[in-house]
Amino acid sequence: MASNMLLAGVLALCFSVALASIVPVQDFCVGDPNGQASANGLACKDPKSVTPDDFSFSGLDKPGNTSNPSGSKVTSFNANQIPGLNSQGLSMVRVDYAPYGFNPPHTHPRASEIFAVLEGTIEVGFVSGVPELRHFKKVLNKGDIFIFPFGLIHYQKNVGKGNAVAIAAFNNQSPGMIPLAGTMYQSQPDIGDDIVARSFQLDQGFVKNIQAKQ
Ligand code: GLV
Ligand code: MN
Repeated sequence: MASNMLLAGVLALCFSVALASIVPVQDFCVGDPNGQASANGLACKDPKSVTPDDFSFSGLDKPGNTSNPSGSKVTSFNANQIPGLNSQGLSMVRVDYAPYGFNPPHTHPRASEIFAVLEGTIEVGFVSGVPELRHFKKVLNKGDIFIFPFGLIHYQKNVGKGNAVAIAAFNNQSPGMIPLAGTMYQSQPDIGDDIVARSFQLDQGFVKNIQAKQ
């Protein structure tokens, strides 16, 4: 009984320490790109030199260039573009899709994502972990929102006739991005072609060929 209470106390303490470490301890810590010291983000600018512009950004309306093999472009807005985002646990992206464009399967190791369609029709999906590996997918239209849960592999595909545009927000100023195919084919040094071929049930020569082209 006493040991159970001790365990509960230790867990409660760990939980409150974990929470304390993500709640800011000052009104703001506007990022100073030239600052030397940093703690889980950019160093703080001198608060006296902070201006309203540090909390603002113009250009979310500018389309990204989708002339690439996937026909999509992710434009990031984080503490590098908006210094006031530093230490706020937030960041966002704009995603442009050409007709048939897609955002390949990827995960964000440090965030969940809320995704909203501004233009067009986009199929979205994510897959849960083992043992179910359940595929959740849906076709979204302008004004629709979808959630990609923390760390799960997800993708989008433009299934409309014209261009599509979405914005998404992350609950981390640095969500990270791990592309599934990129990890298999572009890592340096590469993951052995035998491992990739056997994992994906592909011919080893085929994998070697793709890895060599990267
Ligand atoms: C969309 O899922 C993105 O992370 O850009
Ligand atoms: Mn994503």
